[in-house]
Amino acid sequence: MTAEPRPAPDFAAELSTLARSTPNSGIVDIMNYGRAKEGLVRLWVGEGELPTPSFITEAASRGMAAGETFYTYQHGLPELRRAIADYHERMFGRPFSEDRFFVTTGGMHALDIAVKLITEPGDEVIVPSPTWPNVPAAVTVNRAVPVSVPIDYRDRRWVLDIDRLAAAIGPKTRAIALNSPANPTGWTADLDTLKAVLALAREHGLWILADEVYGRFSFKGEMAPSFHEIADDADRILWINTFSKNWAMTGWRLGWIEAPPAFAQAIENFVQYSTSGIPGFLQRGALAAIERGDGFIAYQNERVRQALAIMNQALAGANRISYAEPDGAFYLFLSVEGFADSRALAFRLIDEAGVGLAPGGAFGPGGEGFLRLCLARSEAQIREGASRLHDWLLRL
Ligand SMILES: Cc1ncc(COP(=O)(O)O)c(C=O)c1O
Repeated sequence: MTAEPRPAPDFAAELSTLARSTPNSGIVDIMNYGRAKEGLVRLWVGEGELPTPSFITEAASRGMAAGETFYTYQHGLPELRRAIADYHERMFGRPFSEDRFFVTTGGMHALDIAVKLITEPGDEVIVPSPTWPNVPAAVTVNRAVPVSVPIDYRDRRWVLDIDRLAAAIGPKTRAIALNSPANPTGWTADLDTLKAVLALAREHGLWILADEVYGRFSFKGEMAPSFHEIADDADRILWINTFSKNWAMTGWRLGWIEAPPAFAQAIENFVQYSTSGIPGFLQRGALAAIERGDGFIAYQNERVRQALAIMNQALAGANRISYAEPDGAFYLFLSVEGFADSRALAFRLIDEAGVGLAPGGAFGPGGEGFLRLCLARSEAQIREGASRLHDWLLRL
């Protein structure tokens, strides 16, 4: 005799408050909508379309063939930690200890660990906005509270007002999360701005979560200003970084956190109880990337610069469009006059222009009314996207 199937409980109602309050990504529904559309120029992404260079994939394959398939160091392979320190020495011209660097499962994991390391439930983390939405979400998921401070759009420039940042600091503030160069705006802090933020952190005993993952994507020089140029070992700074963007390795899920060595045991524990470490053979690929990948970074920068020039030229005559020329990262964050609802506009652009852009509302306060366009795409895609946008604007 077969038993009657038991009615399933309302499982969704049993989710924890935390699970229910964790925000959805605002970009995914646009991607789902556009995924099956043929011929769409997809510029909504946050990654380039170049595959990982073969000198990196081959190093990982060799690691796998050599049997590096066992559990490994929670902190990352010692050789890779040393290579990350050497990379910093090359960039900043001073010694770095490998004891400060810990390999993580992408920049996202570094960010999550950073928030875990320094916040108590209810602590506030100041997040300049528009922002990559995973920053406030990582704060929320760890039961702390993100507090937005606007990066204002004025006269075709994004401006962070340090006085407003200072005014947001209260008794519960624990950290300031600064992403420069910024996703999605391309806003990039100059050295004076970094100095002002560091001065605030020193004055109030705050931590800085320094997300410099786009630091090598600068339109003004080889690299963007960094807290590394002004901070010393007594500063409360956790750097978040990744192999994803510099070396076209988004799918590898490899990054690093830089932290005071006093945090080493806590980081080991967090890695142990989340991912239990990063595959050794993948770290061999990362080692090749960071040791031999400067040429590839230069090549990507060249492509992004060219893409920006093409977009600037194509959109110059389109009078309803407005954006700040980015100083760094690889995005254009643009607004179309008369369209306040970026989600609705993103859907329209898919249907009417055949271009997929990310809605600005997904990037938090200050992002509504804008659309994010990724410049790290092939010249053909950029030209086609630019011309479709231009023609669509003319038809308005
Ligand atoms: C500002 C910023 N920080 C960190 C990351 C994390 O990158 P990943 O987790 O892919 O290494 C991203 C990815 O889009 C980003 O835009």
